Amino acid sequence: MSLLENQSVEFNAVLAALRAARRVLFITGAGVSAESGLPTYRGIGGLYNDKATDDGVPIELALSAEMLEQRPAITWKYLRQIESGCRRAGFNAAHKAMADLQEHMEVWVLTQNIDGFHGDAGSQNVIEIHGNARHLRCCGCDWQEEVADYSQWDSIDGAAPACPQCGKLIRPEVVLFGEMLPSEPLARLHQELATGFDLVISVGTSSVFPYIVEPVLMAKRAGVRTVEINPAQTEISDWVDWKFQQQAGELLPAWLECLAKQVR
Ligand code: OAD
Repeated sequence: MSLLENQSVEFNAVLAALRAARRVLFITGAGVSAESGLPTYRGIGGLYNDKATDDGVPIELALSAEMLEQRPAITWKYLRQIESGCRRAGFNAAHKAMADLQEHMEVWVLTQNIDGFHGDAGSQNVIEIHGNARHLRCCGCDWQEEVADYSQWDSIDGAAPACPQCGKLIRPEVVLFGEMLPSEPLARLHQELATGFDLVISVGTSSVFPYIVEPVLMAKRAGVRTVEINPAQTEISDWVDWKFQQQAGELLPAWLECLAKQVR
């Protein structure tokens, strides 16, 4: 099918909104990286679908601040599993389309993903509200490092990596269960929301957290148009102006192509 023909009324309505927009906010989740081959957290093939991990604890407990403190090897085992998925993968057409849209307008991305793919694709304004798995820091001293992957610890399988400076536990700068959101991205989010957006597009997230739902509600209250791209129904599906039950990697490049070619 040609991307530029036979599009729905809704598709064209969003295209018109994109054309008119100066500032757009994308809110993204694991579904955006699903087409890169990464598992989502919920839904088909979701990481959280099995109630217990191999270690007999729920994944939410394995990936919690409490577990990192008490049994760090368990938390690292599952952090490593998540990272090994990212290592074989890269950004996809959805990430690329959001980055390329910057040629047409100011684009902000509020992401829950810790894979760093938005930045890899070229997005400039990324708010990583759950952190980034490639940013590591020591729990005991000021050591920190940005790593491409966790391959340097492949040989210490079953143990938690130690700081090269002081020997204490190191950890990625990601939000574990039971932890607060990082203050810098949160402050940036509030600042950009206060400035306002002309269009808010939620993509590939089950929208389970209030800080993910709220920007959509804020936009709606302010009369700003809202969009959801997700094959499944979520809490926000009935509130948005336009809901697309499609794959992000198909739909976003189609809008971009129309914008680039100035198709009506
Ligand atoms: P979820 O796994 O909860 O939701 C992913 C959503 O993406 C689902 O609603 C899918 O229907 C949808 N989806 C799947 N493939 C898609 C595609 N190709 N295009 C568009 N949508 C697609 O992931 P998140 O909403 O990101 O937090 O989960 C939020 C947070 O829950 C995660 O960041 C993680 C987890 O607890 C922490 O670890 C702190």
